[in-house]
Amino acid sequence: MRTQQGTPVRREAYQPLAYGVETVDLDFLLDPKATQVSSRLVCVRNPDAPAGPIVLFGEGLELLSLHIDGAEPAAGQLRKTDSGLELDVSAERVVLDIVTRIDPSANLTLSGLYQSRGGYYTQCEAEGFRSITYFPDRPDIMARYTVRLEADAAACPVLLSNGNLLETGNLPNGRHFARWEDPFPKPSYLFALVAADLKALERKVDTASGREVLLQVWVEERDLDRVGHAMDSLIHSMRWDEEVFGLELDLDRFMIVAVSDFNMGAMENKGLNIFNTKYVLANPETGTDLDFENVESVVAHEYFHNWTGNRVTCRDWFQLTLKEGLTVFRDQQFTADMMARASDSPDAAASARAVTRIANVRGLRGGQFPEDAGPMAHPIRPDSYQEINNFYTATVYQKGAEVIRMLHTLLGREGFRNGMDLYFSYHDGQAVTCDDFVGCMAEANGADLDRFMRWYSQAGTPRLKAEGVYDPAGRSYSLTLSQSTPATPGQADKLPLHIPVAVGLIGADGVDLPLQLEGEAHAGDSTRVLELKDASQTWRFTGIDAEPVPSLLRGYSAPVILDVVEDDARLAFRMAHDSDPFNRWDAAQRYMERVALALAAEAAAGRPMEVPQAFGHAFRALLVNASLDPAFVAETLALPSEAYLLERMQPADPAPLRAALIHLSRELGQALQGDFLARYMDLEVDGEYRYHPADAGKRALRNLCLRYMMAWGGPTAVQLASLQFKTAGNMTERYGALAALVQSDAPERLEALEAFHERYKDDALVLDKWFLLQACAWRWSADAPATLERVRALMDNPAFSLSNPNKVYSLLGGYFKANAAEFHREDGAGYAFWAEQVVALDRNNPQVASRMARALEGWRKFTPAIQARIRVVLEQVAGAEGLSPDVTEIIGKALA
Ligand code: TRP
Ligand code: ZN
Repeated sequence: MRTQQGTPVRREAYQPLAYGVETVDLDFLLDPKATQVSSRLVCVRNPDAPAGPIVLFGEGLELLSLHIDGAEPAAGQLRKTDSGLELDVSAERVVLDIVTRIDPSANLTLSGLYQSRGGYYTQCEAEGFRSITYFPDRPDIMARYTVRLEADAAACPVLLSNGNLLETGNLPNGRHFARWEDPFPKPSYLFALVAADLKALERKVDTASGREVLLQVWVEERDLDRVGHAMDSLIHSMRWDEEVFGLELDLDRFMIVAVSDFNMGAMENKGLNIFNTKYVLANPETGTDLDFENVESVVAHEYFHNWTGNRVTCRDWFQLTLKEGLTVFRDQQFTADMMARASDSPDAAASARAVTRIANVRGLRGGQFPEDAGPMAHPIRPDSYQEINNFYTATVYQKGAEVIRMLHTLLGREGFRNGMDLYFSYHDGQAVTCDDFVGCMAEANGADLDRFMRWYSQAGTPRLKAEGVYDPAGRSYSLTLSQSTPATPGQADKLPLHIPVAVGLIGADGVDLPLQLEGEAHAGDSTRVLELKDASQTWRFTGIDAEPVPSLLRGYSAPVILDVVEDDARLAFRMAHDSDPFNRWDAAQRYMERVALALAAEAAAGRPMEVPQAFGHAFRALLVNASLDPAFVAETLALPSEAYLLERMQPADPAPLRAALIHLSRELGQALQGDFLARYMDLEVDGEYRYHPADAGKRALRNLCLRYMMAWGGPTAVQLASLQFKTAGNMTERYGALAALVQSDAPERLEALEAFHERYKDDALVLDKWFLLQACAWRWSADAPATLERVRALMDNPAFSLSNPNKVYSLLGGYFKANAAEFHREDGAGYAFWAEQVVALDRNNPQVASRMARALEGWRKFTPAIQARIRVVLEQVAGAEGLSPDVTEIIGKALA
């Protein structure tokens, strides 16, 4: 199944392999430059597959020996192929002994077996196992593993692998060994080993059924004071999965290991999750509230994979959303519950849940919508790929989670749970498809989900149009919903989807009306889920005494773009009264988007910009409303992301948009300075830092007030920001103050950056924040230095390294993806820098290079002048020599 460069793999071409694997016994003699891997595979003929050879994938391996049932292969029995080896055998069962040699120290891809800070780590998803040893490295080959590790005892005192520890012992020459056994059959992408100098925080807890299990979080010794939160998060995750889904940890031991060099967030290897340090380490001094939240949700995500991903896995990589969409949905629900459980009233709980939902949707709109509107647009279950690593996308993860959420909305909490129970009862221990999952949901609920399956095959963000007509004579309100999905590359024709649309009707007094559809005997709740299945459908609500204001897609019940005609007054009305907190936020965002894009149009035309007074009033009404949850207010008053606004601007033009956003935040900062200051003062959190949604909400709104004040930039603002920076008792406040200073033209920002660097120059994760802030800096005055020069200079900082993904994502990713106006500067210097860095990164780490390459894939949305400049560098990179399949696919699709 491995891609030849330029030959896409097609979903339709799936074939089971002729031989599967029953057991795998691995023996690693770990050495930086010459690690020897011995593997014994018991291969078994698959009766359901067409006849064929044993297929073994292998990449960059030195084959030392191979024996078939103890004998050398006969002449012609063993063939080398482009992707590995093939063996002709006739027996039903065959034992293979394979010895290979690899060089972990030379492996900079961070896939397969590699080194980081003197330790050994593996990353096998998606196809990394084949660069460790020859193997039928596909997720539908599930086998039981034992592992023996041998390494230098001083350099690597800790030897870990999946499952349960069987034995450890010392060997001559300062070496030692450990043997591990994983009782559960698993696909090779879930294999892991770690050999390093680490220490663990340990806890013993009982599962729901009363089994005692050992939990460990392994980190470098110096980081032991930062692991408590990850451990708490793990225990919360365990409890939540027991309570909500009845799913228990199935091993006696569960380990998390933190590593500094890691391509993604974390990896769910069976019983041995490996994490980017960024998603494990957090204490008040070094982590912000957002970091604490991210650690909690990533720990939960990987833990939840144990059932949704590991016990039931994917038949092939096209089914990736089977595990990822479902697991993201589960971690989103978990986070919402964690936020809500600290609330003291049902309203507060609803608001807290909405804050989580808002963050989910911000991510979707800022990350997935652009993907779905560009050359990489693909269904959540793609039909083809050239490099699977390019398909760990916002579409597969975030939109995939939205699709699962729609099932939850359509079937209800209980119906969804019944579907999950059926899924595990049918498929535990299997490698299955998305059809199997949705099939269980349908069967458990007697539901017809045939049309719903189109969400798995259609790319592009659907448009939902809503038109309401009030009939005073008939006291009724007719709501017509229509859908269409724009063409995407390779997919011109789109069919209607099954879309749950949660609807409420708000009366003139701001109170929801009870809803009664034509034909119903009496009125029900004030929110109703309408199921749109055709291109267009109409619903008639009866008993309505005056024209209502519709509130559509409450809770964001479907991942669509809603087109509905609403004037400013109606947006302000919903901003003030919508009983659905998500939609209240959304009304504010729509209003802000409208104002920002209008200002940008003025800026583009060289006309003066003026912020409408009515908007200022609506904004202020929320700002001063002390009865609202501060976390919610902070979300509501924050500007929509630039990435999302550029998506909405036609044609996209970063410079005037940036001018508009600067103008808007300055004007608000000035006009409402007294209100910002008052809220800033009364939101101060006393006492010792604790990670708690109520405190975090206050800090978030307080920091937002500071940012608006700094945007205006009076002396009070600068004083407050400097004082907060100097006296902060935790990272959330210190970083909030630094961010406010950096997003201004106050000279004090330079001092603060310097002080921050001095304080944290040996702290890699904190420095990532420092790099990121500077990469994302706006220019608040014409004479401020350009960001690009600063980014270039920062690459020379001793703490920066192109081979550490976190550094690249902060400094380069921040500049390419979160600073549009500076990156798209008119002289094209940002693009030349991009081309240079993408090509340089690609030599060592194609996965990281490809992520950076994606920064320009949406180039066709920009003005013709910008497009012309970008085309030049895209072609330049396309012509670079020795490009990886990863980057080749991205650039090829961008230029197609
Ligand atoms: N399965 C991982 C997750 O969702 C993702 C992941 C971690 C990954 N590392 C990777 C995917 C490397 C591809 C390559 O949590
Ligand atoms: Zn995942």
